[in-house]
Amino acid sequence: MAKPFRHASKQSLRLLDPFNGVVTSPPPIWLMRQAGRYLPEYREVRTKAGGFLDLCYNPALAAEVTLQPIRRYGFDAAILFADILLVPDALGQGVRFAEGEGPLLDPITSAADLSRLQPSATRSKYALVAETVARLRQDLPKETALIGFCGAPWTVATYMVEGRGSKDQAAARLWAYRDRDGFQSLIDILVETSIDYLGQQVKAGADVLQIFDTWAGALPDDELDRWVVEPTKRIVEGVKSAHPDIPIIGFPRGAGGAALWYVSETGVDGIGCDTAMPPYMMGEAFEDEPTVVQGNLDPLLLVVGGEPLEERTREILDLMEGKRFIFNLGHGIVPQTPPENVARLVEIVRGG
Ligand code: CP3
Repeated sequence: MAKPFRHASKQSLRLLDPFNGVVTSPPPIWLMRQAGRYLPEYREVRTKAGGFLDLCYNPALAAEVTLQPIRRYGFDAAILFADILLVPDALGQGVRFAEGEGPLLDPITSAADLSRLQPSATRSKYALVAETVARLRQDLPKETALIGFCGAPWTVATYMVEGRGSKDQAAARLWAYRDRDGFQSLIDILVETSIDYLGQQVKAGADVLQIFDTWAGALPDDELDRWVVEPTKRIVEGVKSAHPDIPIIGFPRGAGGAALWYVSETGVDGIGCDTAMPPYMMGEAFEDEPTVVQGNLDPLLLVVGGEPLEERTREILDLMEGKRFIFNLGHGIVPQTPPENVARLVEIVRGG
């Protein structure tokens, strides 16, 4: 049987070079939260869509906002427009995004509450996300890779248990200490559904996957092993058993030194580094592993622009020269970022 077209065209995707052991100068670049409120054209579509979740579940509009930063900046990768909280929403938890308040969920606080989650109910919502992916695979320039993603079970669980964003993720940490088996059951549900969700994204045309573990840094080492490393390893194994060639990037934000052990244990192909990782360490720490390093400019430098942005960008590029590297931020673009600073960053990275 003939291979589908997208496989035939994968050679033209610069984002895949470092995963294939090919070092390029300049390195490929994309930015976390490259679609979003800092772009006037995003705000326009967002208003038209109604709520944030309506936008995520509307394949035509979600594909459109995914493409917006590609048109402006020509990044080497587009990231599917969706959210890590679509998973609890699809499971039936009930997720709302209140203006100015961030996400609100009906909290799940005990093993008894887990019966509210219906893994089989995810089908129709995951299908809408897969449709967005399929549209994007058609509409993206042939040299632009498409990144699919999910939140890691630990990070998604922190929102499910707290019922909202929190500064210390205390509700989930307390549950995990008090009732290890109950919390493990929640993590297990998330591992299984994430394998399914990511698999659907790959089948629909995603070229690379990223697993966002924004709150990994809230856990001490033994807890990090149990709730971050082990579940991520199971997801990587589960996705790769069906799709052995799909590169997976892990982003265990705040994990510090444990990022090394995360890389060797989970089997991820790439490691997203947060802003706290010194660039000389990004260059050296992962050399014994065949791991692609991604990061790690401070997103606030994109707010400031000018000399501070240039200086730090060049420093990161110098230290990562000759390595298997993807230029990115250490966390997502913030809404007050002037779009022209993003254009300048791309120009600097590409040798301007
Ligand atoms: O361009 C992209 O990066 C693709 C889409 C994307 C979004 N969220 C869109 C979004 C991705 C990959 C995410 C990941 C995500 N979502 C994470 C992990 C990465 C990180 O930033 O740490 C987390 C923790 C979430 C959960 C989430 N989504 C919160 C806490 C919030 C509210 C705070 C905020 O930034 O607004 C969101 C909303 C959200 N997700 C927006 C966007 C563009 C803003 C919604 C709006 O338009 O009002």
